[in-house]
Amino acid sequence: MNDKTTPRRTAKLATPTSLGAKATRDIAGALNALVADFFALYLKTKNFHWHVSGPHFRDYHLLLDEQADQIYATTDPIAERVRKLGGTTVRSIGHISRLQRVTDNDAEYVTPLDMLAELREDNARLADRMRETHNVCDEYNDVATASLLEVWIDEAERRAWFLFEATRHGEAPD
Ligand SMILES: [Fe+2]
Repeated sequence: MNDKTTPRRTAKLATPTSLGAKATRDIAGALNALVADFFALYLKTKNFHWHVSGPHFRDYHLLLDEQADQIYATTDPIAERVRKLGGTTVRSIGHISRLQRVTDNDAEYVTPLDMLAELREDNARLADRMRETHNVCDEYNDVATASLLEVWIDEAERRAWFLFEATRHGEAPD
């Protein structure tokens, strides 16, 4: 949407920023997709936290709760970053479902190892998408968003690492 077609009501929410309208549009667009991904991954991680079963229940249940807390804590700073840039962010679960790229898993039963493997993949892909968003920030010299993304990429990679190692419980030693 260019400035000429921006409705007045939307214009009221356009926080002043020196980065420019194009930067706001591109970076906010990329960040809003990430907000949706983080909410979707938060709920999937909680879903698996609630429904995990088996001999490693306690370890997996606690690991997924820790990860869900970290994912949830990231949603607010990403959304507020969008507002600081002059954009608007997600407004509802319906809005999230239209933007999310993380796929839901509504299966009745998922084995614990499949849960961990799926989350490992989701976190790895989330890190990839954050790297892509970092590239968009670099284009506009938005160092603040880039710097936040660097922390969140590291956190996603840490989650993927823990999930990877936890799936090796059942393997025989070399
Ligand atoms: Fe819980």
